[in-house]
Amino acid sequence: MFLLYVLLTASLCHGQFQTTAQSTTASPSLALATCNSTLCKWSSMSCSSNLDCECFSLTNTVNGTISGICAVADLSCTSMIRCNSDNITCSIAQTICVNSTRCQQPVCYPMALASIQICPPNRITTLIPTVTNATTSSNLPTLATTRPTSTTTTSRTMWSPNGITVAGIGNGSWGSAMNELNYPRNVAIDSHQNLIIADSGNGRIQKYFTSNGTIITLLSNVGVYHVFIDQYDNIYYDDYSSVQKLSSGGLIVTKTTVAGDNRTQGNKTNQLNQPQGLYIDRFGTVYVSDSQNHRVMKWYVNASEGIVVAGSNGDGSASNQLSYPHSIFVDEVNEVGAIYICDFMNARIQKWLPGAQLGITVAGGNGIGGGLNQLFYPVSIILDPITRIMYLADYGNNRIVKWLPNAKQGQIIAGGNGQSARANEFFRPQGIKFDSNWNLFVTDWANNRIQKFLFNVSSC
Ligand SMILES: *[C@@H]1O[C@H](CO)[C@@H](O)[C@H](O)[C@H]1NC(C)=O
Ligand SMILES: *[C@@H]1O[C@H](CO)[C@@H](O)[C@H](O)[C@H]1NC(C)=O
Ligand SMILES: *[C@@H]1O[C@H](CO)[C@@H](O)[C@H](O)[C@H]1NC(C)=O
Ligand SMILES: *[C@@H]1O[C@H](CO)[C@@H](O)[C@H](O)[C@H]1NC(C)=O
Ligand SMILES: *[C@@H]1O[C@H](CO)[C@@H](O)[C@H](O)[C@H]1NC(C)=O
Ligand SMILES: *[C@@H]1O[C@H](CO)[C@@H](O)[C@H](O)[C@H]1NC(C)=O
Ligand SMILES: *[C@@H]1O[C@H](CO)[C@@H](O)[C@H](O)[C@H]1NC(C)=O
Ligand SMILES: *[C@@H]1O[C@H](CO)[C@@H](O)[C@H](O)[C@H]1NC(C)=O
Ligand SMILES: *[C@@H]1O[C@H](CO)[C@@H](O)[C@H](O)[C@H]1NC(C)=O
Ligand SMILES: *[C@@H]1O[C@H](CO)[C@@H](O)[C@H](O)[C@H]1NC(C)=O
Ligand SMILES: *[C@@H]1O[C@H](CO)[C@@H](O)[C@H](O)[C@H]1NC(C)=O
Repeated sequence: MFLLYVLLTASLCHGQFQTTAQSTTASPSLALATCNSTLCKWSSMSCSSNLDCECFSLTNTVNGTISGICAVADLSCTSMIRCNSDNITCSIAQTICVNSTRCQQPVCYPMALASIQICPPNRITTLIPTVTNATTSSNLPTLATTRPTSTTTTSRTMWSPNGITVAGIGNGSWGSAMNELNYPRNVAIDSHQNLIIADSGNGRIQKYFTSNGTIITLLSNVGVYHVFIDQYDNIYYDDYSSVQKLSSGGLIVTKTTVAGDNRTQGNKTNQLNQPQGLYIDRFGTVYVSDSQNHRVMKWYVNASEGIVVAGSNGDGSASNQLSYPHSIFVDEVNEVGAIYICDFMNARIQKWLPGAQLGITVAGGNGIGGGLNQLFYPVSIILDPITRIMYLADYGNNRIVKWLPNAKQGQIIAGGNGQSARANEFFRPQGIKFDSNWNLFVTDWANNRIQKFLFNVSSC
C-alpha cells in the first residue's frame, strides 16, 4: 500500500517538539509458570496459550511434583549460561536450571520469562482448522497526504500520548469471548480500515468492522502469529511451519499454503521452522522470517520452495547472520527489494540489499538495553519508504520508537512509561501498523488489547 505514496504530495512537518528522557522499568516479580514436562510445544496440548512458550524439564524436580517450567522458547543458546557442574544449581540470581535439548546442555533459564503472565496456561486442546464466513474486497486504501517526515528531531507530540483500546478489554485481562483477546500477536488493516487481528492465545483470526463495530471470527483453532493484508485485501498469516493465504469465494474462506509445509517444521528450502514475520509484495511474492532457522526466505507465487534472501549462516551476530529474526519489511519504492529485518536476539535492525551476502545495521546494534541508542528485542517494523523512517516495536522496553535514516538513536513515539495497562503504557508490545491517516495501532500483547494512537495532523 506504500506504493501509493509516490503519487501523493507530502507536506512537511514544522511542529515544536520536546525531548523527553526515558527510563526503563524493571519487570515486577511474577508467579512461575509450571508444567508437566511431557507436554511439548508443538503437540495439541502445549503448555501455554502463548505460542512462544514451551515446557522445559527441570533438572531437579521441585517439591516432588513440579517437573517443568513453561517459558519463552526463543532464547538464543549463546546468551544462556550453563548450570553449575552439578547440573542442578545456578549461580545467577533469578534463574533456574533446565534441561535444554536445543542448547545440548543444562542451562540457567531467567525465571522472569517463565511467569504465568508471559506464559499463561493453555486452554486450546485442538488445532483443527475451522473455516467460517468472511467478506473481502479489492478496493485500495486512500492515504493521507500529510505524513510524518524526517525533518523533525523528536516526535512525542506527533501521536497522542494515550492510546485508545480498539480491541480487547483494555485493562490487561484476557478472555475468549468475541470482544476479548488472548495474547494477540499482530494486527493488520484492510482497505476499509477494518482490523484483522492474530488472536494467538485463542487460536483464531478476528475481524473488527470499523463501520459498525461488528466482530467476527474468520478462522478458529489455528496456530497464528502474524497477519498481513496485500493490496487486494487477501489475508496471509503464518503458523508453526507455513504461510497460509485466505481468499474468499463468495462467503466461504479458502486456505492455501503459500510457503513452507503445513505439516512439518524443518530447515530444508521447502520448509519453515516457526515463521515470525511476513511481507507480501505487489507481485504476491511472500517474504517470510524463518525464525528458528535464522534466515529470511522469499517464495515466488506458486513456488514449491523458497530462496534464502538473508542469514542462513547459523545463529549469531556476525553481519552474515541473524538470531531469531522476527518482523520484516520490504522497500518497494526507494531501494527496491531491500529487506529490513528485526534481528530479535541481536537487538538490531538489519538491512539486506537484493543479492547481498551481508546485512547492514540500520538501528540498534548497541547491545540489549533501554538507552535511546539501544533496542531490547525489536519485534516489529514498519518502514516509510519515502522518508526511510523506521517505526519499531521495542518489545522489552515497552515502547514504540521512530528511527530516522542514519540516526544514532531512536525517538520514543508511544509508551516508554512503564509496564502495566495504563493508556500510555504497554506490556510487551508486538505487531504495529498505521492506518491510512497515520494513526498508529499497537498490539499490546501481554495486556491483551490493541491500542490506537491518533496522529496529530496539527503537529505538521
Ligand atoms: C503428565 O502428562 C502425562 C501425559 O499426558 C501423564 O501421563 C502424566 O500423568 C502427567 N503427569 C503429571 C504429574 O501430571
Ligand atoms: C534432566 O537432566 C538431568 C541431568 O542431566 C537428567 O537426569 C534428567 O533425566 C533430565 N530430565 C529429563 C526430563 O530429561
Ligand atoms: C515449594 O514448596 C515451598 C513450601 O511449600 C514453597 O514455598 C515454594 O514456593 C515451592 N516452590 C515452587 C517452585 O513452587
Ligand atoms: C552434567 O551433564 C553433563 C552433560 O551435559 C554430563 O557430562 C555430566 O556428567 C553431568 N554431571 C553430573 C554431576 O551429573
Ligand atoms: C456462512 O454463510 C452462510 C450463507 O449466508 C450461512 O448459511 C452459514 O450459516 C454461515 N456460517 C457461519 C459459520 O456463520
Ligand atoms: C478487567 O475488566 C473485566 C470486565 O470488567 C473484569 O472482569 C476484570 O476483573 C478486570 N481486570 C482487571 C485486572 O482489573
Ligand atoms: C457491519 O458492516 C459490515 C461491512 O459493511 C457488514 O457486512 C455487516 O453485516 C455489518 N454488521 C451489522 C451487524 O450491521
Ligand atoms: C496442507 O496443504 C495442502 C496443499 O495446500 C492441502 O491439500 C492440505 O489439506 C493441507 N493440510 C492441512 C492439515 O492443512
Ligand atoms: C537441519 O536439520 C537437521 C535435522 O534436524 C540437522 O541435522 C542439520 O544440522 C540442520 N542443518 C542446518 C544447516 O541447520
Ligand atoms: C498460480 O497457480 C494458480 C492455480 O494453479 C494459477 O491460477 C495462477 O495463474 C498461478 N500463478 C502464477 C504466477 O503462476
Ligand atoms: C498537536 O501538535 C500541536 C503542534 O505541535 C501541539 O501544540 C498540540 O499540543 C498537539 N496535540 C496533542 C493532542 O498532542
